[in-house]
Amino acid sequence: MSQLTLLFLKLELYFPSGRVFAAYGNNYLQYGPWGPSPLPWLSSLSVDGAEKISERLSIMSGTNRTILRIDASMRRQKSVSRMLADEMVAALGVRKPGVSVINRDLAAGIGIVNSAWIEAERTSVENRAPDQRALLAQSDALVAELQAADDIVIATPIYNFSVPAALKAWIDLICRDKITFVYENDVSRGLLSNKQATVIITSGGTVAGNDIDYATGYIRHILEFIGIREITMIDVTGLSKNRRKVIADARRDITEASAKRLSGQRNLSVAE
Ligand SMILES: Cc1cc2nc3c(=O)[nH]c(=O)nc-3n(C[C@H](O)[C@H](O)[C@H](O)COP(=O)(O)O)c2cc1C
Repeated sequence: MSQLTLLFLKLELYFPSGRVFAAYGNNYLQYGPWGPSPLPWLSSLSVDGAEKISERLSIMSGTNRTILRIDASMRRQKSVSRMLADEMVAALGVRKPGVSVINRDLAAGIGIVNSAWIEAERTSVENRAPDQRALLAQSDALVAELQAADDIVIATPIYNFSVPAALKAWIDLICRDKITFVYENDVSRGLLSNKQATVIITSGGTVAGNDIDYATGYIRHILEFIGIREITMIDVTGLSKNRRKVIADARRDITEASAKRLSGQRNLSVAE
């Protein structure tokens, strides 16, 4: 299957109406709680339906692993987090057959939650007006990316002791009630499963884990909140003091983390 066809499939997956569908040969799959569907069981499902489609897409395209890479540094040049994310994604086998990457570069811009968005999100899917669906389209696309991913690589600097505003905006758009999390008897349960995350976090002087680091614990909490339990933190903090050593240590951690991920995947396929 050519790269162009793969791209076509991905584009269909993020169809802006908020409906997720894929067409390939005689196969036609559609996910969307509104409108007619040739496969009614798919149209009536929410998260499970979308996950089934991403699994199906993987089988149809011959792709068996998807990496979602999220960049939160506003710098495209000289960015340490981007440089190390390149290395992590390469170590996870981006050039190998069967591995595909979705790139979400937050420096390209991202919307923020506002009053109309909240109203649209709280309107039941069947009752949403076309403009409300349009308002939710970016959030739907970001959620679909997460659902399609096996490995998630988040590369982020610390800005003002916390995450960059664009990463916070992304978090606000992917935390969706009954889609990525649900509250049951006042207890939250994450709805994403079978995903692993690597967080590459850079800073000048703020050291990860100390009292004024409001980034690392927060990112971990959000990932766990949406159901991602396997999280590896690559600590690249304190670059202004000991840049060479911090980067060398991070590279060693990336090698170890990617080897662990890949051996976990091999064990899984033997078990299957
Ligand atoms: C707006 C802004 C705020 C920053 N705030 C902090 C901070 O609170 N603590 C810190 O240690 N470094 C801070 N830095 C430095 C960055 O975290 C550091 O340069 C990091 O390497 C940037 O990641 P990048 O190389 O991927 O762009 C800040 C940088 C910018 C541009």
